[in-house]
Amino acid sequence: MKNIMVTGGAGFIGSNFVIYILEKYPEYDIIVYDKLTYAGNLENLLEVADDPRYHFVQGDICDAATVDETITRFSIDTIINFAAETHVDRSILAPDAFIQTGVYGTYVLLEAAKNHGLRYHQISTDEVYGHIPAGYSSVETDKLDPRSPYAASKASGDLLVNAYFITYGLPVTITRGSNNIGPFQYPEKVVPLFASNAIDGLPLPVYGDGQQMREYQYVVDHCEAIDLVLHKGVLGEAYNVGTGVEMANMTMVEILLDTLGKSRDLIRHVADRPGHDRRYSLNVDKIKALGWEPRHSSEEAVRKTAVWYQQNEWWWRKIKSGEFKAYYEKQYGERLRATEA
Ligand code: NAD
Ligand code: TYD
Repeated sequence: MKNIMVTGGAGFIGSNFVIYILEKYPEYDIIVYDKLTYAGNLENLLEVADDPRYHFVQGDICDAATVDETITRFSIDTIINFAAETHVDRSILAPDAFIQTGVYGTYVLLEAAKNHGLRYHQISTDEVYGHIPAGYSSVETDKLDPRSPYAASKASGDLLVNAYFITYGLPVTITRGSNNIGPFQYPEKVVPLFASNAIDGLPLPVYGDGQQMREYQYVVDHCEAIDLVLHKGVLGEAYNVGTGVEMANMTMVEILLDTLGKSRDLIRHVADRPGHDRRYSLNVDKIKALGWEPRHSSEEAVRKTAVWYQQNEWWWRKIKSGEFKAYYEKQYGERLRATEA
């Protein structure tokens, strides 16, 4: 393994992964292949921009010709696919791009990996298992039961990856991460949205009662797990990557506000997300058996993330003043006004 194509590498987790891997493996070259959608941002990669082992290609994973050309040009031997549309609320408003990238785009990459004889790793999510009742944690062999267009697009990707392993013997692995948080997360996701709103004294729109359970995980812990599966994972297998400890959204909000020294008066309970999964919970025994442990608790992850947003206004302020404003009004305008009535 030497020349790794990281699709979606200009997004949140992808960029953290690129920074991590360039630092850890001096012998690797990283080729970021990214469409630069609203969520892709080259400022996430400023730290490595001058590294001669880092290369960037702007391209769509649905565009087979450009994918093919990039693989040949850089003698790619491995693809790690982070590219996806990733926000559940946007998948409810407009599912089209989710299906294009998550299903067709994954197929294009798998075909390219097959034709060029590459190693392939798919970044997936705990959301493919759907809502999980209290007292149970998903294991990798559970049936996939996605309930949002986003989750369905990701589950479809997983099924395709598995099919290429069984049918063509493609050397694949999958990791299914829980809710990642940390530097460079687009402020539509709950933790950066709430941190940046709180810093500005704006309301925090909590969906429903806020008792939904999530495993908030520090992004670098996830990157370490991907690295491990890439090098030591059993081909054809999926690995859950979570903290193993769940947290109610309201608890996350309270930790966040306390860290930033802001009042709980900013909390607004607004109309719930349709089809909102109440709980995700991952059994992480399999990845632990491979030698991985999360380094941060969920509480540490929330605190560290809140402080990063406090210290990096240069990064998120320009995002929040652009396309984001129209999205925010569409998603939250009515919901927030209803709480004022
Ligand atoms: P993100 O939205 O921050 O970044 C996605 C990146 O993919 C962006 O850079 C975007 O430009 C790029 N992209 C989108 N469509 C593309 C296309 N057609 N061709 C090429 N590039 C394209 O997402 P993220 O939070 O970093 O998530 C990365 C991956 O991890 C996704 O596959 C996601 O499903 C998965 N995941 C995310 C989380 C989480 O909590 N954020 C948890 C588990 C799994
Ligand atoms: P999110 O960051 O969108 O991740 P996901 O839906 O993929 O888990 O949301 C995390 C949790 O926070 C989820 O239970 C929905 C909730 N949430 C809110 O309460 N308000 C919000 O404005 C957002 C974006 C999310």
